[in-house]
Amino acid sequence: MSIDYSRSEPLVEEEPLITTSLTQEDGAEYSLRPKNLREYIGQEKAKGNLEVFIQAAKMRQEPLDHVLLHGPPGLGKTTLSGIIANEMGVNVRITSGPAIEKAGDLAALLTNLNENDILFVDEIHRLNRSVEEVLYPAMEDFAIDIIIGKGPSANSIRLDLPKFTLIGATTRAGQLSAPLRDRFGVTLRLELYTPEELSMIVTRSANILDAPIEQGGAMEIARRSRGTPRIANRMLRRVRDFAQVVGDGLINKELADKALTALEVDYLGLDNIDRRMLRAIIEYYNGGPVGLETLAATINEESVTLEDVYEPYLMQIGFLTRTPRGRCVTPKAYQHLGLTIPGGAPTEMDQLTF
Ligand code: ADE
Repeated sequence: MSIDYSRSEPLVEEEPLITTSLTQEDGAEYSLRPKNLREYIGQEKAKGNLEVFIQAAKMRQEPLDHVLLHGPPGLGKTTLSGIIANEMGVNVRITSGPAIEKAGDLAALLTNLNENDILFVDEIHRLNRSVEEVLYPAMEDFAIDIIIGKGPSANSIRLDLPKFTLIGATTRAGQLSAPLRDRFGVTLRLELYTPEELSMIVTRSANILDAPIEQGGAMEIARRSRGTPRIANRMLRRVRDFAQVVGDGLINKELADKALTALEVDYLGLDNIDRRMLRAIIEYYNGGPVGLETLAATINEESVTLEDVYEPYLMQIGFLTRTPRGRCVTPKAYQHLGLTIPGGAPTEMDQLTF
C-alpha cells in the first residue's frame, strides 16, 4: 500500500495545543498512526462493522463499498482510511473537498486511480456543486461524463473508470447533500474516546517515541485531551519536552500535571478559548441561551471552530447544552469556573432556563 499524503492545502505551521486540524508536527509524525485494525484502539462499533465489510469485500474480490466517516475532528478519520487501504491491500489517494476546485480536478484524480484504489476526500461537505455532480456517476457506475464542445453542438461522452472506493470524511454529516449521502453504502460515526482508550493510545505513542511513561502520566494526559487522540499525541510531545528539560525524562502523573498546567490546559482539558466561551455566556448572556454567531462575535472566534472543535467536548462533559433558542451553560460549568450559580442550588431546570 502507498499513501499519498500530498495535500493541496499547506499544513498550518503554528497551532495552539487544542486545535484539531493537522499541524506540521502531526504530518511529520504520522508514524504514530496505527497501520491496521488490530493496532487501532477504540471506536469498537465502527471497527467491528468495518472488519466485516472488509472481509466480505475481499472474499468477493471487489472494492469496498463507498464509506462515509463522520464525527468531530481529530478522531482518526484519515488514519482509518489508511488502515482500510492497508487491510484491503490497495493504494489510497488523499485529498480534500476545498482542494478539488473544478470538475476537471476530480476527473483527473479519478482517471489516475488503479483498480480497487481508495480516494479519500476529507471535508467532503465542502465540495462544490459542479464537482459533486461528477461524483454521482463515478460512485454509482464507475464512469464520468465528459462534455465536449459548447452550446448546441456540445456532446457528452462517457469515460469508464477503474472500480474504486470513495471514503468521504466530514465533521458535519448534516451538511452533505442528500444525493451524495445516499450514495455511500457504509456510514460510520466516530465518537469521542474515553480517557481509558486515550491512555492506551498515549502509552502506545510514548513507546514508539521512546519516551518513558508511567500509567499515571498517560492517564493525566488522557484525561486532559478532550476525547481526541490528535490532541493527546500533541500533548504527549509537549509533556515529553518538559520531562527532558525540567524532570529526569520520565513522564509520571506529577510531571504531566506540571507541564499541562504550564500550558494552561486545566485538569479537564479546557483551554483559554473554552473558558472564554463559558464565561462570555455567563457574564454577557446570564448563562444563555445565546446564538452561536453572537457568541462567536463576542469572543472574537470563528463560529465553525466553536461548533466543530469546542462544543462537542463541552457538551460531552455536561458543561454546555444546545437548545432551540441557543447555547446555555450548565451549573457544572459555573462550579468548574468557581462562579456562583444564580438562584442558589442547581436544579434540572437550571440547564435550560438560566
Ligand atoms: N493514534 C492515534 N489514534 C489512534 C488510535 N485510535 N489507536 C492507536 N493509536 C492511535
